[in-house]
Amino acid sequence: MEPDGQLVRREAARRRTFAIISHPDAGKTTLTEKFLLYAGAVQRAGAVKAREGRRSATSDWMELERQRGISISSTVLQFPYRDHIVNLLDTPGHRDFSEDTYRVLSGVDAVVMVLDSAKGIEAQTLKLFEVCRARRLPVLTFLNKLDRPGREPLELLDEIESMIGLRPTPVSWPVGAPGDFRGVIDRRTDEFVRYARTDRGASLAPEEVVPTDRAALEEGAAWTTARDEIGLLDAVGADLDEASFLAGDSTPVFVGSALTNFGVRMLLDAVIDLTPSPSPRTDLDGRPRPLDDAFSAFVFKVQANMDPAHRDRLAFARICSGRFERGMTVTCDRSGRDLTTKYATTAFGPDRETVEEAFPGDVVGLVNATGLQLGDTIHAGADPVTFPPIPRFSPEVFATARPLDTARVKQFRRGVEQLDEEGVVQVLRDLDSGDTAPILAAVGALQFEVFGYRLASEFNAPAEILQAGYQAIRRTDPASAPRLREIGGIRILHRSDGALVALFENRYRLARLEADEPELRLEPLVAGDVPVG
Ligand code: G4P
Repeated sequence: MEPDGQLVRREAARRRTFAIISHPDAGKTTLTEKFLLYAGAVQRAGAVKAREGRRSATSDWMELERQRGISISSTVLQFPYRDHIVNLLDTPGHRDFSEDTYRVLSGVDAVVMVLDSAKGIEAQTLKLFEVCRARRLPVLTFLNKLDRPGREPLELLDEIESMIGLRPTPVSWPVGAPGDFRGVIDRRTDEFVRYARTDRGASLAPEEVVPTDRAALEEGAAWTTARDEIGLLDAVGADLDEASFLAGDSTPVFVGSALTNFGVRMLLDAVIDLTPSPSPRTDLDGRPRPLDDAFSAFVFKVQANMDPAHRDRLAFARICSGRFERGMTVTCDRSGRDLTTKYATTAFGPDRETVEEAFPGDVVGLVNATGLQLGDTIHAGADPVTFPPIPRFSPEVFATARPLDTARVKQFRRGVEQLDEEGVVQVLRDLDSGDTAPILAAVGALQFEVFGYRLASEFNAPAEILQAGYQAIRRTDPASAPRLREIGGIRILHRSDGALVALFENRYRLARLEADEPELRLEPLVAGDVPVG
């Protein structure tokens, strides 16, 4: 029999774990579905939407998603493609900044950035792209919707470079202007791949590899334009460069149309061929944990009540090393407590499948692992490990919350605690004034909406949530707190991870204080400053 270490290394090398990020409506859902179609995981496109329909029918908190037409919950799709196992982590797509999207990025090895080629990079999602850049995640770019009139692809490349600072290196290039899209030239092989449409791309788009001389004759002016543009790209050396892609400095660009399936296979192949397999994750002391060490993983998402029929709580853990076997006992590094993993699932939409074994790069959902919190490391074997915490983001908006029904204070407290644990918002408490009027802090206001909705629907504790006019937050310490308390317009609060923070009604006052009393500890809560392993 094959030794375990060898098996783990081989299985890890087959994994590709990534997320698709985009502005809402750029085509993330469509592309996800088309990946499933090309991988043979669904027979006809349309299946994902049907699953979504079922999900909103069975889950009351998904109602919010349905009402707003946005996707808030994250799931993990796992499917085989070629000789590989693809793990696609779904990032919630909404117009607002949200911490849970960023957290998903700590569990992936690469991202596919989808742009609507009529729109380019849209302001609200710029921040998300910047986070990928800051974390040096390898980014593949897909210029989508070329089947309809849009902006010039060359112009979009400029935008990627100037706005995100990623150097675009087109791998495929369109033949036919946006709106009259016929196929792509693969710059690596110089082949022309011509596509034919199927009805709304429900089935694979027929592809034909056309020799260059025939393509020149048949495609006429469109061919000449494409060749000219490729000449420009050649001249500036915008060629695929694997080293700088893996370092997060350049981005291979693919073009296509998720709706008609043009270019989808080439992109999926690139996920396999270009994005990295899992690599050893660095622990808190900067030591990489070898892939074939004993089992280890970290929790990047906790979510309760995903399915009201079960009212359970799932902790999603990304495996970093070793082999996971269902039923094995693992230790939570923070609490030192053991937990069994009898109920472990993978998630494919709402359909849970029990997972028997899993390897680095995979995500397992641990059911009712109540002791697990966001960012926790779990491990098995004699060699414990602690991975760095998942970066928290500096909140930018604040609100107060109080129960509307005084008879339901207990439910309110329980709900606040649970949603705080899940990281839906950051909950800040004044230890003197009890815990019925916490301050909520978030990166985007949508987080408050989700918080209020879930308090009411899952905990039966409707709450009044009012935006509060704080302008800045700083980490402080017990030595500085008494002086800060003397000054008006500042509140000192506790976060559940033990951090002591100061909230400022006026950011100019904060600036003055920083200048006048440098001995006070007033540190920004930095975003994304923890290196990703
Ligand atoms: P999202 O998950 O990023 O929010 O986007 P989603 O895939 O839901 O796509 C948003 C809209 O854009 C959908 O249209 C979808 O059909 C369309 N779309 C996606 N990819 C392409 C493409 O390559 N070309 C064109 N022309 N359209 C595309 P919708 O009208 O909102 O929904 P539907 O009625 O078409 O289902």
